[in-house]
Amino acid sequence: MAQLWGGRFTKETDRNVYLFNASIDFDKRLYAEDIEGSMAHASMLAAQGIISEKEKDDILEGLKKIKAGIEDGSLEITDEFEDIHSFVESKLTGMIGDAGKKLHTGRSRNDQVALDMKLYIRRQCAEVSEDVKALQKAILHIMEENICTYMPGFTHLQKAQPVTLAHHMGAYFEMFMRDRDRLASIKTRMNTCPLGSGALAGTTYPLDREFTAKALGFDRPTGNSMDSVSDRDYLIEFLDALSLIMMHLSRFSEEIIIWNSNEYRFVTIDDGFSTGSSIMPQKKNPDIAELVRGKTGRVYGALMSMLTTMKGIPLAYDKDMQEDKEVSFDAIDTVRESLQMFEGMVSTMKFNNDVMEASAKNGFTNATDAADYLVRKGMPFRDAHSVIGRLVLYCIEKDKAIDDLDINEFKDICPMFDDDIYEAVSLKTCVERRLTDGAPGEQAMLTAVKRYKEYLDR
Ligand code: ARG
Repeated sequence: MAQLWGGRFTKETDRNVYLFNASIDFDKRLYAEDIEGSMAHASMLAAQGIISEKEKDDILEGLKKIKAGIEDGSLEITDEFEDIHSFVESKLTGMIGDAGKKLHTGRSRNDQVALDMKLYIRRQCAEVSEDVKALQKAILHIMEENICTYMPGFTHLQKAQPVTLAHHMGAYFEMFMRDRDRLASIKTRMNTCPLGSGALAGTTYPLDREFTAKALGFDRPTGNSMDSVSDRDYLIEFLDALSLIMMHLSRFSEEIIIWNSNEYRFVTIDDGFSTGSSIMPQKKNPDIAELVRGKTGRVYGALMSMLTTMKGIPLAYDKDMQEDKEVSFDAIDTVRESLQMFEGMVSTMKFNNDVMEASAKNGFTNATDAADYLVRKGMPFRDAHSVIGRLVLYCIEKDKAIDDLDINEFKDICPMFDDDIYEAVSLKTCVERRLTDGAPGEQAMLTAVKRYKEYLDR
């Protein structure tokens, strides 16, 4: 048990208390951020004349060696230390002696951990965004190949109007654009540097907070030292963004599961992304999509957990805040793994275009267009709606699609029908007429695809 704070204690911490209190098991993940922050702090201390140039050089050299040692496996992070901050500081002191003990001048673990988490989350915002982008690329590829692949669009999971596979995929592309936008906007609010806030009330040393803020890529130092050490808003915003990503992945999963079902057969998930049953030899299950859907709850849990942890904490730092790490790290791993799995599953999935097209044709998805046809012939829409309702009923009785009726059957229901009805209710016409911005018509879709391509190239 190597602690930074033995001085005022007369007795060793109970072993179980030590373990309960320690965070090294999980905050070791922050070693790179901790070292990066310490390097900036040491450089600033030297620039301000608080430590000598030689001491700074020794500190930087030692910190570099510690980082390299952790990365090449020669330096093991063990639970002999309370947290990553203690680990780095004692290894440094062991390596370079007294200069190592000066590193913590004008700093507390409270502003240190606030900095480490900010650096880590800022990096994760960028990395998660790249994972989302990779999935967007896979989606765009499907879109480009399926501009004219017709399928039913659903509302209430009932066939509604015909769309295209490109259009359906475009809906997910839009969701993921918003997700990336959200991740980017978190940075604009969180990008202030806590270093120099000390435990809660700043310090008496002449620290240059602008120096460290700039060295670590922040816009400026934080504005209030108490808020600085106890702010985890950005983490809650980040977990909110992760929850929304999972919500989108979960909806996508649900659709893939339905589409891959024996009844739908719109898609076939690749064997490499499916699993079998131990008893039923015929089974090929969409486990990856189901797991992603299931893991969504876990990420929502992290968001609720952080909101709840933070809600009763008096200013400034309280140890409750150490609870920010495990749930967040788990949420990050879960989301990134889910995104990566999804990208693989989606880009190897086979779309059964003929099945989707047949389904669009057989579900009266062209009923609105048939009503619009009568409107173009002069009938008020409400009356046309009622006529086509009767036509659909007739088709159900005869077990026919609208386009399969012969012209006399049309005319028996309404004499305003003519031979041009067939062209008007063909799937191609129904989709191609939908040319408003964001609609599935070919030209509208090509414009969207062009926009998405430019967005991904940015
Ligand atoms: N392990 C602590 C955390 O994650 C580091 C800060 C400790 N500060 C303190 N005053 N005990 O929050």
